[in-house]
Amino acid sequence: MKGIILAGGSGTRLYPLTMVTSKQLLPVYDKPMIYYPLSVLMMAGIKDILIISTKDDTPRFKELLGNGDRFGVKLSYKVQPSPDGLAQAFMLGEEFIGDEPCAMILGDNIFYGAGLIKHLRNSVERAENGEATIFCYYVNDPERFGIVDLGPNNEPLSIVEKSPNPPSNYCVTGLYFYPKGVSKLAWKVEKSARGEYEITTLNNMYLKAKKLHATLLGRGYSWLDTGTHESLVDATNYVKILEEHQGIKICCPEEIAYKNGWITREKILEIGESMKKNQYGQHLINVATGKIKY
Ligand code: TTP
Repeated sequence: MKGIILAGGSGTRLYPLTMVTSKQLLPVYDKPMIYYPLSVLMMAGIKDILIISTKDDTPRFKELLGNGDRFGVKLSYKVQPSPDGLAQAFMLGEEFIGDEPCAMILGDNIFYGAGLIKHLRNSVERAENGEATIFCYYVNDPERFGIVDLGPNNEPLSIVEKSPNPPSNYCVTGLYFYPKGVSKLAWKVEKSARGEYEITTLNNMYLKAKKLHATLLGRGYSWLDTGTHESLVDATNYVKILEEHQGIKICCPEEIAYKNGWITREKILEIGESMKKNQYGQHLINVATGKIKY
């Protein structure tokens, strides 16, 4: 199972913050934004990950994350020359994906909630068995999103992109799992009227073939996207409140790597020691010394 983090885009809604850097390198409280989607793929058990970004930003992600050793994963990088749509990730990633199933997450999406790991692992299993998964979340402004109409058993009936008359309030979030062969299908996606290779078109192909599962993230789950000044500061406040209240960290890739058995106790301790003057480093030390129980 492979994974892609799509972390390009132009980030114009965050100008001037993103005039000289990527949105996904901005902080969300105590870590760079990309740590959150990276954590989700790692929680799914995915070790082989491709980061797609712009020509200017790709070297910055390389500088921050390197080859993934620190997190016990294998990271590779690919440039998206222009932001031509989410489905393009599977064209650009064709060689990387090879003949395996592949998950994709958007670099500015944050997912959190007890039971998420089980949902992720179930999606991996479905992808390995030929079925795609989307994650749906109730929103108050459905006109802004890809929206799915759900049947009585939450089965997807139709998906429409940014419609003035959306069929429901359930949006398709930026996390997708596909079976092997996704690149081949992605190449069949034609550009939409707004000039993008739409992920909705790809999802509709799976829907039509009756190979699309919708997982509903209900109460108890948070999905945040961080594309505007308001939502960025909301995300920071949300993470700060959660982490301070519980006294532990969320979406901490070093911790997930350690729990997955991908890095040693010595390694997480060493990373923690290098940042011991702050809460993040202290947290890693607490994980390594067994102070935090699971
Ligand atoms: P958007 O928020 O739709 O676009 P953007 O990041 O360019 O921002 P803005 O609207 O402010 O100009 O993108 C959602 C996520 O997907 C974000 O993480 C960037 C990423 N993305 C790409 O990497 N490539 C693409 O072609 C598109 C459309 C988005």
